[in-house]
Amino acid sequence: MNRPGPGLSTIAIHGIPHRRPDWSPVAPSLYQSSTFVNPIGSDDEVLYSRYGNNPNQVELAKKYALLEKADAAIFVASGMGATALAHLAVLRPGDHLLSSSWIYGGTQRLFDEELGRLGIEVTYVAPDQVRLWRKSVRKSTRAIFVETPTNPLMRVIDLGPISYLAEEHGLALLVDATFASPVNFRPLEHGADVVITSATKYLNGHSDVIAGAVAGTASFVEEVNRLMRLWGQAIDPHAAWLVDRGMRTLAVRMERHNSNGMAVAQWAEQHPGISKVHYPGLPSHPDHAHAKLVLTGFGGMVGLEVKGGTKATERLLKRLKLVTHAPSLAGVETLVSEPRLTSHKGIGPE
Ligand SMILES: Cc1ncc(COP(=O)(O)O)c(C=O)c1O
Repeated sequence: MNRPGPGLSTIAIHGIPHRRPDWSPVAPSLYQSSTFVNPIGSDDEVLYSRYGNNPNQVELAKKYALLEKADAAIFVASGMGATALAHLAVLRPGDHLLSSSWIYGGTQRLFDEELGRLGIEVTYVAPDQVRLWRKSVRKSTRAIFVETPTNPLMRVIDLGPISYLAEEHGLALLVDATFASPVNFRPLEHGADVVITSATKYLNGHSDVIAGAVAGTASFVEEVNRLMRLWGQAIDPHAAWLVDRGMRTLAVRMERHNSNGMAVAQWAEQHPGISKVHYPGLPSHPDHAHAKLVLTGFGGMVGLEVKGGTKATERLLKRLKLVTHAPSLAGVETLVSEPRLTSHKGIGPE
């Protein structure tokens, strides 16, 4: 009889469940060491935390790979580091990247300011312009990048046609699914080749770490690992330990994010001071039908448009006590921020 494997919640706590030896610690040990004793005369790879082979880094990556149902994964110093290294692993000077135009402002700046400098051209296409995706593929196109759900409008992109296009043209499909976490959505099950996440957000969940991760095939992760060592992007062991600790409650936190997000969105939709609510769990959201099909839950992020514009928004923000005005998301506390001044500063009203 085929017994089902451990569920996501069990994996997030234990990785692959195993019997612990007597007297061993129940909580994982922190190896806060840059380097490890090297056997004399050994030509085995040395253990050095910049190489990502410190036990805290290794165990965390194995657990995340299991959650994403990937062959392999790797953690780096930030979500931006993960996005940068994932793209450097697949793109070369002269290549062309096709990117969704609905992306985090930091990612867009990375593409505009840095990929261009490396001789990599980027074309942005709105995910709802289905025909334009196909038209925008060039001979030099190597990869497609999509973020879903999007920051901050919570658009849930149908990866079906995009992954079909990628496969047809032999392109790598990279997906930033920070806003879902592997509990709500696993892009590799929907045709993506690479999943990128800012572990700063849901994975860690306690607003006390900056970290990022990528998952995909073993050869892709090996290339990211090579770049990580050379560009000096490894996650610090303590940050890895904290992310692992946060991930132990990922599944239960996501359940609560999903139910609280829905409650806030439904409340906001009835509120006379709010003109628009962006939450994929609401029937009024443009992607509600698709979101219901592909997401396990709609998440804890809600986009709000306040009647009365900037002045009314600032008045509202000044009255908040429990809710803190700070950028970032997905921690246990509730945060509110204005994308025009934070995540999407400098990239125009769209
Ligand atoms: C969707 C998305 N991707 C990537 C990042 C970058 O993550 P980090 O701040 O960990 O570098 C963010 C940050 O807000 C984000 O919202």
